[in-house]
Amino acid sequence: MRFDGRVALITGAASGIGRGCVERFLADGARVAALDVDAEAGRQMVAELAGKGEIAFEECDVGVKTAVDRAVAAVLARFGAIDVLVNNAGITRAGDFLAMREEDFDLVIQTNLKSVFLFGQAVGRHMVERGKGGAIVNMSSTSVIMTMPNIAPYAASKGGISSLTRAMALHFAPHNIRVNAVGPGTIVTKMTQSRTLKDPAQVRRILSRTPLGRFGQPSDVASVVAFLASDDAGYVTGQTLYVDGGRAGLNYTVPVPE
Ligand SMILES: NC(=O)c1ccc[n+]([C@@H]2O[C@H](COP(=O)([O-])OP(=O)(O)OC[C@H]3O[C@@H](n4cnc5c(N)ncnc54)[C@H](O)[C@@H]3O)[C@@H](O)[C@H]2O)c1
Repeated sequence: MRFDGRVALITGAASGIGRGCVERFLADGARVAALDVDAEAGRQMVAELAGKGEIAFEECDVGVKTAVDRAVAAVLARFGAIDVLVNNAGITRAGDFLAMREEDFDLVIQTNLKSVFLFGQAVGRHMVERGKGGAIVNMSSTSVIMTMPNIAPYAASKGGISSLTRAMALHFAPHNIRVNAVGPGTIVTKMTQSRTLKDPAQVRRILSRTPLGRFGQPSDVASVVAFLASDDAGYVTGQTLYVDGGRAGLNYTVPVPE
C-alpha cells in the first residue's frame, strides 16, 4: 500500500475533488483526517466510508487561523502525526470585474489562498519538529495560466497558490518536506455542476478547449494528488502539475462531436 498507515489531512474533504482524494488515500492505505466547513456533509461522508479504512472528520473553516490551529491540534491528538497535507478547500465568486464586491474578493482570497498559508504554518511546524519529512499538495487551477474576466478573485487566489507553493517548497526543502500543487481543468463537482455544466453552450465551449474530449472526474485529480504526495514523487517539489485533459497546451479549439 502506497501510504501504509501514513496520516493524510485533507481540507474541503466533504465534496468533489476533496472527497475523491479521501477515497483515493483510504484505498492507498492512508489514515485520513477529513476537514470541511460543512459538518453535516462531512459526517455523512465519514459514515458512508466507514469500513474503507481509518477516517475521522473535523469541522473547520480553513480561512480562520483559530479554527485551523484548533483542527490541526485535534488531528494530532487523534492520529499522533501528519505525513501529508492536501490543501484542497476552495470557493469561487463570479461576476463583472467592476461590480465585484470587496467582501467577495476577500472571502475568495481568505478561503483559497490564506488557508494554504495557515495550514502550511500549522502543519509545516509539526512536520519540521517531527523531523520525518512530509508532503504538501495545494489545489491550484488552470486559471493560473488562462482565465476569464468574471472570476478575477479566483484566478488571483490560484495564481497566489502556485507562487506560495514555490516559496514553501524552498523553505521546507532542507527538511525533506515537498510542496507541490495540482491545477485541474474542468472537473465534474458541485462547483461546476451548480452553474457552468448546466449550460449546454458552455459545455460545448469547454469541450472545444479539451483535447481529451471529456470533463475530468474527482478521481482523475485525486490520483495525481496521491502521486505527488507519495515517495514516487520524492524528487519533485515546487511544481504545479496541470490535470486538464490537454487544455494548457491547446491553441484555438478542437472539434466537439454533436
Ligand atoms: N471543479 C473544478 O473544475 C475545479 C477546477 C480547478 C480547481 N478546482 C479546485 O478544487 C478544489 C475543490 O473544488 P471542488 O470542485 O471539489 O468543489 P466542491 O464545491 O465540490 O467542494 C469544495 C469543498 O470545500 C468545502 N469548503 C468551502 N469553503 C470552505 C471553508 N472555508 N473551510 C473548509 N471547507 C470549505 C465545501 O464545503 C466543499 O465540501 C477547490 O480548491 C477548487 O478551486 C476545482
